[in-house]
Amino acid sequence: MLLPVLLLLLPFPDLPSVAGHPLYMRLPPSTLQALSAQGTKALQAAQRSAQWAVNRVAMEIQHRLHECRGCANHTVPCPAGPGRPRPQAQDPAAPGPCGERRPSTANVTRAHGRIVGGSAAPPGAWPWLVRLQVGGQPLCGGVLVAASWVLTAAHCFAGAQNELLWTVTLAEGPRGEQAEEVPVNRILPHPKFDPRTFHNDLALVQLWTPVSWAGAVRPVCLPQGPREPPAGTACAIAGWGALFEDGPEAEAVREARVPLLSADTCKRALGPELHPSSMLCAGYLAGGIDSCQGDSGGPLTCSEPGPRPKEVLYGVTSWGDGCGEPGKPGVYTRVAVFKDWLQEQMSAIPSSREPSCRELLAWDPPAEPQADAAPPCAFYSRLCSGPAVACARLAQQQCLQRRRRCELRSLAHTLLGLLRGAQDLLGPSPGMRRLAPALARSALSLLEPPRHPAREQRLHPGSRAAGARFPKRRPEQRKEGNGCPGLETLQQKLATLQGTHAWILQVPSEHLAMDFHEVLADLGSKTLTGLFRAWVRAGLGGQHVVFGGLVGLEPATMARSLPRLLVQALQAFRLATLAEAEGPQMGAR
Ligand code: ARG
Repeated sequence: MLLPVLLLLLPFPDLPSVAGHPLYMRLPPSTLQALSAQGTKALQAAQRSAQWAVNRVAMEIQHRLHECRGCANHTVPCPAGPGRPRPQAQDPAAPGPCGERRPSTANVTRAHGRIVGGSAAPPGAWPWLVRLQVGGQPLCGGVLVAASWVLTAAHCFAGAQNELLWTVTLAEGPRGEQAEEVPVNRILPHPKFDPRTFHNDLALVQLWTPVSWAGAVRPVCLPQGPREPPAGTACAIAGWGALFEDGPEAEAVREARVPLLSADTCKRALGPELHPSSMLCAGYLAGGIDSCQGDSGGPLTCSEPGPRPKEVLYGVTSWGDGCGEPGKPGVYTRVAVFKDWLQEQMSAIPSSREPSCRELLAWDPPAEPQADAAPPCAFYSRLCSGPAVACARLAQQQCLQRRRRCELRSLAHTLLGLLRGAQDLLGPSPGMRRLAPALARSALSLLEPPRHPAREQRLHPGSRAAGARFPKRRPEQRKEGNGCPGLETLQQKLATLQGTHAWILQVPSEHLAMDFHEVLADLGSKTLTGLFRAWVRAGLGGQHVVFGGLVGLEPATMARSLPRLLVQALQAFRLATLAEAEGPQMGAR
């Protein structure tokens, strides 16, 4: 039992040699350092990503509990039976009138001070204004147009299209009631959005669960016809964007009144970059009052008079030349001309779209496919003309395949990004494209639920572990909510996720550094692909692992082999943690 541990604590034996020629070669310290730096980044990414996965489910649990409480108080309809709430194509709860503001908040203050040159909006003043976050970082504004739909700017997603990373924070209530955060189910950028010209800068975001209209949130009204009110109409903008160009973001919502400008005025001011077919301008040619960075995706609304005035969304904040510069009004995507597209997207039946990663990750595949392909897999059986059972089986297979890719996206994508970074750092990367799938496969095993360590040891005989331990974090409490359908499934999912990611979650952040102590290549073991068998010794905090791998010794082969060593090191640490969790029988406590 103690032998593996002892083996690990001993330094490598002196290098044997034959007739003066070494049989082994050590990678130089500079390479080890570079590898360690990338390993540390990979660990950080893995931890962030694990925390995200866990937080997302915790958030869903909260949301579920919230719904169940509302239902017990009869303020919202009770959630559906067992299983999870699915985003609905049609919004379930009647939103009541759209575009209605609370009377006390309905006066947008005249400009003074600075959105640029606006003022702080009273809490709850813009019940449809939401905030879009990626990886927890606020990036854009958005506008609630229906219970499950937020309208925003397509350019917000230029850097990250992966819906799993995005959440939406709803408006806080008039008394500063805590804002709710909802995961994003699907991002639908306008298919003709052009990231170079910002033509058609519009996207619909489908929320994972519809918002309830019981609280302070309300949808805005969408325009009825294809035209905006006449130039000169005073409309309103709102958002958390910068207070001036390159300035800090606002801490609370700010608002300002801006007049609509005619297409001619706008074209004269901004030149050929302005495409009036999808863009409109609003603001002052004198400058001083404008939207700014961070306001993108937020609303430009105009008040429609009547016995009950209502706010109609005519623009979505898109771009500008600086912020509040004289002669440079702000540019907004024309919502009125996209009415058909919006209707079409929001009323599409679920099976007409490929299931989203979030839907697939929430899906519990039945052991035997049902006679009819059920959601979320029905999409894949649309074009199948064989017997229903065969089609359902095929659909389930495709669903499973895509779910696998989604799992890959959530962790391995981050890892792969980093590994590509490692390639840049460590040298030319001729084989990266070929290597990527293999790396992805090994990175995927990091996502698999823990198996029995003894079995893992057999599967990966090169891996051994010993060293200091981190105190185990307790799995989060799993209580409350008997009689809240679907809650238990979510809680189980949370527990599984915590188990799967325990290896990285329990490492305190101050220990989150990977240290490659030694890579020793066996010179007599060259493979057909030009790599050598190697022993790798690495440390993570106080934990040490040793594992076998393959390494190249010339610049090109080395650059090709190092990323795989990184992933193997991550795997070795994961196995080490599992072995440790197994306790005394591993002889290391
Ligand atoms: N593109 C910016 C954003 O992403 C919005 C800029 C609006 N600029 C302006 N001058 N109106 O937040």
